[in-house]
Amino acid sequence: MAETTLDLAGVAKPEAYAELVRQIDVVLEGIDDRIAAMATISSSIHSAMSYLWTGFYRVVVPGKLLRVGPYQGTLGCLEIEFGRGVCGTAAATGKTVIVDDVSAFPGHITCDPRSRSEIVVPVFDATGALLGVFDVDSEFPGAFDAHDREGLEAIMSWFSRPASGGIAPAATFTG
Ligand code: SME
Repeated sequence: MAETTLDLAGVAKPEAYAELVRQIDVVLEGIDDRIAAMATISSSIHSAMSYLWTGFYRVVVPGKLLRVGPYQGTLGCLEIEFGRGVCGTAAATGKTVIVDDVSAFPGHITCDPRSRSEIVVPVFDATGALLGVFDVDSEFPGAFDAHDREGLEAIMSWFSRPASGGIAPAATFTG
């Protein structure tokens, strides 16, 4: 495989996400396998951005329960109920949640005490059904903003393409 690990720490977010979208699309070309995509996306973003924890929680009981999926980082908790913590809130509402200070978020679930801020993006399939959530943790407070929301939502659109055919051009991050 020609693609190498990117180092995008310190790169402006619009350029960083454009590069991540490009890399993920290239690596996953021709692949129709959600687990392979989750593992690849987690590794690509985690390695390039040097985050604390980067990965997926999958819906195992619709409307009720998430279970950990492919991720990079220290051990994550295994199961999260809908409505609990940041992941459960994103799952219950179907909306991206950005938390600048995890200690101020009611019900935040501490997996790694070094985590200071967090973003969780819902992941939908082509029918609009919730597949899970994508969670990124940073050891820095206020690490995530609208650029991250837009960039990560664009990357998660891979899962809502018909037959998982790649990141939608219309949703591709434009900066
Ligand atoms: N902090 C998350 C739990 C998952 S871990 O951070 C990996 C939450 O409150 O949902």
